[in-house]
Amino acid sequence: MTQASAKQQRDILVTSALPYANGPIHLGHLLEYIQTDIWVRYQNMRGQNCYYVCADDAHGTAIMLRAEREGITSEQLIDRIREEHQQDFAGFHIRFDNYYTTHSEENRQFSEYIYRQLQENGHIATRKITQSYDPEKNMFLADRFIKGTCPKCKTEDQYGDNCEACGATYTPAELINPVSAVSGATPIEKESEHYFFKLPDFADFLANWTRSGTLQPQVANKLAEWLDAGLQEWDISRDAPYFGFEIPDAPGKYFYVWLDAPIGYLASFKNLCNRENIDFEHFWKTDSTAEVYHFIGKDIINFHALFWPSMLHDAGFRTPTAVWAHGFVTVNGKKMSKSRGTFIMARTYLDHLNPEYLRYYFAAKLTSGVDDMDLNLEDFAARVNSDLVGKVVNIASRSAGFITKRFNGQLGQVTEVERLREFIDAGKEIEEFYEAREFGRAMRRIMELADTANQYVNDEQPWVIAKQEAQDEKLQAICTNAINMFRLLMTYLAPVLPKTAEASEHFLSAKLDWNNRAQLLENHHINKFKPLMNRVDMSQIEKMLDDSREELPAPADKQDPMQEEKSKLEPVADEIEFGDFAKVDLRVAKIVKAEHVEGADKLLRLTLDIGHGDKNVFAGIKSAYRPEDLEGRLTVMVANLKPRKMKFGLSEGMVLAAGPGGKDIFILSPDSGATPGMRIM
Ligand code: 2FM
Ligand code: ZN
Repeated sequence: MTQASAKQQRDILVTSALPYANGPIHLGHLLEYIQTDIWVRYQNMRGQNCYYVCADDAHGTAIMLRAEREGITSEQLIDRIREEHQQDFAGFHIRFDNYYTTHSEENRQFSEYIYRQLQENGHIATRKITQSYDPEKNMFLADRFIKGTCPKCKTEDQYGDNCEACGATYTPAELINPVSAVSGATPIEKESEHYFFKLPDFADFLANWTRSGTLQPQVANKLAEWLDAGLQEWDISRDAPYFGFEIPDAPGKYFYVWLDAPIGYLASFKNLCNRENIDFEHFWKTDSTAEVYHFIGKDIINFHALFWPSMLHDAGFRTPTAVWAHGFVTVNGKKMSKSRGTFIMARTYLDHLNPEYLRYYFAAKLTSGVDDMDLNLEDFAARVNSDLVGKVVNIASRSAGFITKRFNGQLGQVTEVERLREFIDAGKEIEEFYEAREFGRAMRRIMELADTANQYVNDEQPWVIAKQEAQDEKLQAICTNAINMFRLLMTYLAPVLPKTAEASEHFLSAKLDWNNRAQLLENHHINKFKPLMNRVDMSQIEKMLDDSREELPAPADKQDPMQEEKSKLEPVADEIEFGDFAKVDLRVAKIVKAEHVEGADKLLRLTLDIGHGDKNVFAGIKSAYRPEDLEGRLTVMVANLKPRKMKFGLSEGMVLAAGPGGKDIFILSPDSGATPGMRIM
């Protein structure tokens, strides 16, 4: 009987937030799925009965409008995106027990059921409200579908709720010259009946629930502030046209996407239960002994820690054991940015780098808190190379060859019993770190052990012993000790590095079994060692960034409501010294040739004359100019930029242009009086 099965096996259900079915998975999403997947893999390795479910969040106006724009049905769109999401997750070894969709029969039934319970218990109110309405499209407009001029600073083309130029917040009614971002029509004000969930009815329940250890301390404090400020009723209905579930007995009214999204957790699990004969009730009845955990981002705490537990509680389901929030991902210390190439899609990453590098890097920096996570790309490469390749894999690669060549693959007896005892005992600390989501501390402890193992090999110098006569037994013992150390390290790393763990199991011809890790490998046959992981090279990272810049969706039309990211005026970058600026050699350049680049949506290939020979530059200005209109024109270029290899060839500089994108990208006018090579001061 294993250690865990001697104890009571825990029944655990785990979820990650459901990604919207209208865009690709990017590194910002992946932090959460990797964090959750590591935790779930750890639980399963320990012998717990732990399920991990998720789904696409398939409803809402944005999805409906995007499908319309693509000329397909919403159902077709969400099916396609779900397929893409699943491939991305699989690429990062995220192992869901079920990946479903909120647009499912199970979800409709649960949503209706919960709504009816809330209604029967008197927690639904209806009243008329006035909202902006698009008279051409015949639809109500959420704030983000209205644009106009900022009432404060008068910047044009601002969204309905806040100005990106001056930061002012306002209501769409205050915008100057508001227009519908869907049709361009001027919105009118229109009244309609809405359904509200009376959240204030749950103030006492929530005051208790949020302070009962279900939330991280920082989150609980934030919630206490919100509760003190008083709760508002929550508008849970949207008028047709809307892609979602119609509200029972309310024709033309739909559940707001955020009502049925968390219910999607129940629906996905129910779907799994039906398929695999799992007892759904056991997990979700009010007095359940099972555990339920939601991993989420800190931006959606209100939905998960206010509305969701209240709904569950009122409808007779158990509430989550805990809701765990994480912070946002930054890259190189800044918000992910499309122009810097740091808005990296899962697919683009996978085209260049091993998913386990990212799993390890995130793990090495994750805590149980809600702090943001910076992916510093140089640090990323350095850590992966030094920890995984330089420390862990190195232990096996330094000892395996002797076992294969000199001992026919046969391990001998362990002689470093004490040292290996330390490795085995450290598992208890590491268990606590994993359980508490202190993955960074777990990784640090594992790397300390890896240092010990490497030190041991350094001290024993098997390569020297190998040359000495009559030292075979000693050589075999040193390598047997080292390989046992490696096995324990890989056991502890298995939740983070599932593929390398699998390859290690093959190499060791033994399972990485956490609970039975005290049974050492002695007099045991192992397989020939094959390199388990390669070093990361900065050039792979550069290529990924180049491809991310290249993969920018064409700058959205001003009228395009579907853009994933609002077209933001980039904030002014960090201050630089005059010396930094002085290093930039700006020259007037004449565009002597401009050509299309095969396979590139946004780039033109420019041949530029700066009076010192021609330069070849790729510029993302295809949306604004036809090549033939550019030839003969002048532009400003960074003449001393280090040449960069891009997907389509070498780029030897950078063209400066101004404008928000799309058709509005401006370069110098031909009659500006400038001449090629002229320096810009
Ligand atoms: O914020 C989001 O991306 C949402 N789609 C998350 C939903 S989580 C759950 F409630 F469904
Ligand atoms: Zn403004």
